[in-house]
Amino acid sequence: MRSISSFLFLLSASIAMVAAGERPKPIPLRWGVLAFPQYQGLDAYGPLEMLNVVKYYTPNMTIAVIAETLDPVPATTFNDLDQPVTYMKPTHTIDENVNLDVLLIPGGPRTSMNTNIINYVKNLYPKLQYIISVCSGATILAKAGVIDGKCATTTKFDWAETTQTGPGVNWVPCARWVTDGNVWTSSGVAAGIDLTHAFIKEIFGNETLADRAANILEIDIHKDSSWDPFCEIWNVTAVGTAV
Ligand SMILES: *[C@@H]1O[C@H](CO)[C@@H](O)[C@H](O)[C@H]1NC(C)=O
Ligand SMILES: *[C@@H]1O[C@H](CO)[C@@H](O)[C@H](O)[C@H]1NC(C)=O
Ligand SMILES: *[C@@H]1O[C@H](CO)[C@@H](O)[C@H](O)[C@H]1NC(C)=O
Repeated sequence: MRSISSFLFLLSASIAMVAAGERPKPIPLRWGVLAFPQYQGLDAYGPLEMLNVVKYYTPNMTIAVIAETLDPVPATTFNDLDQPVTYMKPTHTIDENVNLDVLLIPGGPRTSMNTNIINYVKNLYPKLQYIISVCSGATILAKAGVIDGKCATTTKFDWAETTQTGPGVNWVPCARWVTDGNVWTSSGVAAGIDLTHAFIKEIFGNETLADRAANILEIDIHKDSSWDPFCEIWNVTAVGTAV
């Protein structure tokens, strides 16, 4: 009886959603983070710290780390001996075609964004529910053709050079993050944490969970995607312009 009545409840809830023109969207459970040499650490770790909290409350959520090989991938900060301070440990290579719902791409040097990495993203994108870039990670989206004709943002510090990698992109100079369809792009480094908060709130539909992750990290989240003092600080107020 109980299972029949909960089935009927779910059925009527689905009908109500369809009637309201909404389709129930699955929560993206299979996350991937793309790692390449000298990725910007916080671009990846900031969102990952948020997602680790989300994972705790979300059964069956997985986070894969994808790289060209299974060798640990060095991040961009170096110690006194010129050795990378941190490495990310891949779980899969780009050749394994692991099934993902959402891919998160950190920023890093353009020299690391090679053809293998770009082709991986180009081929994977049509199979994804969402794709996210942080900072200059938008260059990979641009080169993979994912954001041609779409609105996107990227680092303000390196605006001119980064936006040149996507001449067909509608680059938005003043924005903490930008969404266009299933593509979410953030400004530099720490902006990826604000994007992740907004993503959890909107796509997981759970603001309590997004706030809980932020409160555990003790971060004062910017919830307005148009908040962006850095476009003025870096004199980036028009598309393609910079100091
Ligand atoms: C998690 O995965 C298991 C095994 O596939 C499945 O039985 C279970 O229903 C899933 N739980 C949720 C909440 O999706
Ligand atoms: C939202 O997240 C909280 C954890 O902060 C959890 O207790 C609650 O069940 C979640 N709500 C939904 C609708 O998933
Ligand atoms: C931006 O422009 C202002 C005014 O011309 C100048 O004072 C400032 O140094 C510039 N900022 C940068 C980062 O170049």
